[in-house]
Amino acid sequence: MKTIETGRVRLLFRETVPSALSPFWGEEAAGAALSFHRTIPSYAETALVPLPSLARSLDLGGVYVKDESTRFGLKAFKSLGGSYAIRCILEKRAREDGAPTSSRPLPEFVTATDGNHGKGVAWAAALFGTKAHVYMPQGSAEARRQAILDAGAAEAVITDLNYDGTVEFADRQAKERGWVLVQDTSWDGYEEIPARIIEGYLTLAAEAAAKLDAQGIVPTHVFLQAGVGAMAGGAAAYLRQHYGPQLKVVTVEPEEAACLFASWQAGDGLPHTVGGHPRTIMAGLNCGTPCGLTWPILRDQSFGMAAISDDLARAGMRRYAHPLGDDRPVVSGESGAATLGFLLEAASDPALRQALGLTASSRILLISTEGDTDPEMYRRIVGDGSVM
Ligand SMILES: Cc1ncc(COP(=O)(O)O)c(C=O)c1O
Repeated sequence: MKTIETGRVRLLFRETVPSALSPFWGEEAAGAALSFHRTIPSYAETALVPLPSLARSLDLGGVYVKDESTRFGLKAFKSLGGSYAIRCILEKRAREDGAPTSSRPLPEFVTATDGNHGKGVAWAAALFGTKAHVYMPQGSAEARRQAILDAGAAEAVITDLNYDGTVEFADRQAKERGWVLVQDTSWDGYEEIPARIIEGYLTLAAEAAAKLDAQGIVPTHVFLQAGVGAMAGGAAAYLRQHYGPQLKVVTVEPEEAACLFASWQAGDGLPHTVGGHPRTIMAGLNCGTPCGLTWPILRDQSFGMAAISDDLARAGMRRYAHPLGDDRPVVSGESGAATLGFLLEAASDPALRQALGLTASSRILLISTEGDTDPEMYRRIVGDGSVM
């Protein structure tokens, strides 16, 4: 493994593309999730936006962005996971009861969240006719708390704990009150529900691949932003099965909370925690412990892992909002735009460019995982039309 550091990026990368492919989270799992999501009345496939002017300016073959800002009207991809997991939990209960509709009252759900996941769980619980209790780490934005209540949560509380502490708190609440924990990360003994959440995320990867296939476009690189790495791990597993092991996956995390990066760097194969109260504008990526289920996939199948500064997330947001030439604007929040911020730096810095094998024929797939989920911060950052 090699390392490159610029002022705004730290990159760990391999010298050859790994050959490992995941035995699961392929077409079958993605198909099941997509079939379910299509039954939701507000379902609409999100757009895959080509950015040809940007690609030309960076001397790349193509840049394609899966724009999750319109997902179910909730401004982020996260609802894909919570809704699919809740559907699977309720179906399992019905099977255990031996009847399609259970005579038991529906369970109430609980979760910890930086915002987007909790909003998805609140919305999905309401969709199925039950309640969600949502806890948030210290420093969470009031706008995000309000959005969770607006999505239908029974309560949304900002705690004085960091993200990992809030997850532990939600887990205790579940045990004490008989609620069902729907958490978007896994640990020893808590795997079944996170596995369903990860399967739910596959919908976005499958939609993107189908759109690219229809146009005969095969991506060479996919940059995936990561908090705990559940989305990145699922998407990496699916996309590398779909396109083959030559697809280069690079994870992107905030430098203050780069738990995948730190775990890869430790080199012992194990996931490691980054503690404290990390501060970053990339709220959705501010997580200190890798997801146990997806860590082995990202460890074995990533080509690179990057840790980036908040400045690059801002640069990505601004470029999406104020695109070049005839490129279409994309509303992308701090976590959503992290991978474009990374691409702007990676394509312009000769050492990073060479390390990643970026050339004039590279085709890069990005996922803008959220829209303006914190509208005030969004306006402050993209407002003046400048990019750097
Ligand atoms: C907008 C956004 N992007 C990316 C992520 C990262 O997902 P994961 O925690 O599965 O790595 C999150 C997580 O909350 C998010 O809200």
